[in-house]
Amino acid sequence: MKTVFINGSPKKRLSASSYFLFLQRLFVGGEKVSETLRTPADHGRILAQLDDAQAVVFCLPLYVDAVPSHVLRFMEEMQAYCTQRGLHLAVYCIANNGFIEGRQNEPLMQVFEHFCTRSGLTWGGGVGIGGGVMLNVTRILFVVDIALLVVNTVLSVARTGSLFSPDAWVSFGTNAALLLYFNLGVLFYLARMGSAIRKGAPCGKKYTRILIPSFVFILFADIFFVIISLFQGGLFRGWLAKKAYEER
Ligand SMILES: Cc1cc2nc3c(=O)[nH]c(=O)nc-3n(C[C@H](O)[C@H](O)[C@H](O)COP(=O)(O)O)c2cc1C
Repeated sequence: MKTVFINGSPKKRLSASSYFLFLQRLFVGGEKVSETLRTPADHGRILAQLDDAQAVVFCLPLYVDAVPSHVLRFMEEMQAYCTQRGLHLAVYCIANNGFIEGRQNEPLMQVFEHFCTRSGLTWGGGVGIGGGVMLNVTRILFVVDIALLVVNTVLSVARTGSLFSPDAWVSFGTNAALLLYFNLGVLFYLARMGSAIRKGAPCGKKYTRILIPSFVFILFADIFFVIISLFQGGLFRGWLAKKAYEER
């Protein structure tokens, strides 16, 4: 059984979609092909992979409550390609959004359902994930957690001569357990969808989110975007920047 995983994020590196696709791949067996869909130049290569595939998993961000336009363009071509060749693949979808409610991906899921009906494909179902940006940060925090464990172990060797530092491992374990907890909803539904993909069965639409209370999410999201603004465009992006006025 061959499954094609399509990353529909336009980002070149560290997209949330690449994180969720990595997790989804863990739960799917058989032949697995990963593709990135960013420009029309990718279309031909991806479509050729569909010829002998049984399932395709789209993983993409939610843009303005809908499917990003570059993915829509690909879906139009895929519809023509599949109807011409009489392909009847099962289509699954993982959508993630920046706000906390995963249910905001419902209109996007409906687009995929209609796309399957129009293309003669089988709608397998999907998982909508809220707080995608923050969940993506948890994988970076996990790497930081490992780095801290290594540093603390080195310090322990220097101070006591012992390679095993109980404090370092307790701190590592606590942080790792917390990060795992934030991801539990996603892991549960992706495991469930992975099982459906393996069986070629439908799994319906499910919505989940980062497992933290909304008021904590808002606080951290505000801090996060202030920091990002400072690094990527100055405070309040262009608000305080000099404006270039048109000459009349
Ligand atoms: C143009 C644009 C539109 C967006 N629209 C929404 C939206 O309607 N609702 C939402 O919750 N997040 C929205 N987001 C946030 C993305 O869905 C979010 O950052 C997502 O995690 C990006 O996934 P990626 O890293 O895989 O590209 C938007 C982001 C961009 C750049």
